Amino acid sequence: DRTVRVALLGCGTVGAEVVRLLGEQADDLTARVGARIEIVGIAVRRLGRERGPLPVDAGLFTTDALGLVKRDDVDVVVEVVGGIEPARTWLVEALRAGKSVVTANKALLAEDGAALHDAAAEGGADLYYEASVAGAIPLLRPLRESLHGDRITRVTGIVNGTTNFILSSMDATGAGFTEALEEATELGYAEADPTADVDAFDAAAKAAILASLAFHSRVTAADVHREGMTAVTASDVASAKEMGCTIKLLCIAERGPDASGRESVAVRVHPAMIPRSHPLASVGDAFNAVFVEAEAAGQLMFYGRGAGGAPTASAVLGDVVAVARNKLAGTRAASESNYAHLPIRPMGEA
Ligand code: HSE
Repeated sequence: DRTVRVALLGCGTVGAEVVRLLGEQADDLTARVGARIEIVGIAVRRLGRERGPLPVDAGLFTTDALGLVKRDDVDVVVEVVGGIEPARTWLVEALRAGKSVVTANKALLAEDGAALHDAAAEGGADLYYEASVAGAIPLLRPLRESLHGDRITRVTGIVNGTTNFILSSMDATGAGFTEALEEATELGYAEADPTADVDAFDAAAKAAILASLAFHSRVTAADVHREGMTAVTASDVASAKEMGCTIKLLCIAERGPDASGRESVAVRVHPAMIPRSHPLASVGDAFNAVFVEAEAAGQLMFYGRGAGGAPTASAVLGDVVAVARNKLAGTRAASESNYAHLPIRPMGEA
């Protein structure tokens, strides 16, 4: 049977866009993949919510996510709900049962990615999560696959669009943090509660995921030294400017020897001055960019939209196609559950 059956968990901004894109691309995808990708159920918190016109039968909606995940006719589970629980329970259940998972859940991956990778290895299932870091930008696949033969030495990124919008606007207009945050909220960039963004919890989770893939290790959000950007003032930005620099909230993940010469990983997120000549300095607005340094490849930069319904759905759908192709070929992506666990260097050690 040439149909790949998808259970969608969550139908908010990203989920609705996944449904819309999949409907729009259905014929093209069937032709290119060699199988129909069909949504067989959509789990939501509340059934009555207005979701706009979506190209699916209203009968597909359910509030029983776990029941949907357990259904025998489901091949792939796509999770765009977020948060640790109950998402972890649903995804571990799916993976152990051999169902592939596509998730955008950065908080879960950064806190307990190991549980998901181990469940995937146990069930012989695929686990893809391109949308969890930097939205539409193809970044995790290059780290997981294209650069696998190389040795990455450092990853430096702007992975939070809200704070990049705020810092870019402070740099351009001389505004203070509060004023720039208000503008970001009015324009719909910042959420009503911007804590996760401005205190860098969001960037720290993404840094942990990037560092784990770049250094074939297990880095969790708790391993990331985190400093938010609420203390950056208009005068800090002005002084940086005088020195030919700009201030960005950077995530920096590096590998190298610790004080006793042992190979290890250090990961941090904090506001940093960077010279205007650095490629990351020109990343304005709410864009994301990640600068990768590898021994053989040299310097690479990945740039694009890191948030929003459509860009994030683009990454989710790319993963759905990847797992569908693997399923048809009877194969799966390499497991990351057996990664070498490089020690994490405590901050303060160079
Ligand atoms: N709040 C996040 C950002 C959304 O501003 O980048 C994408 O993860």
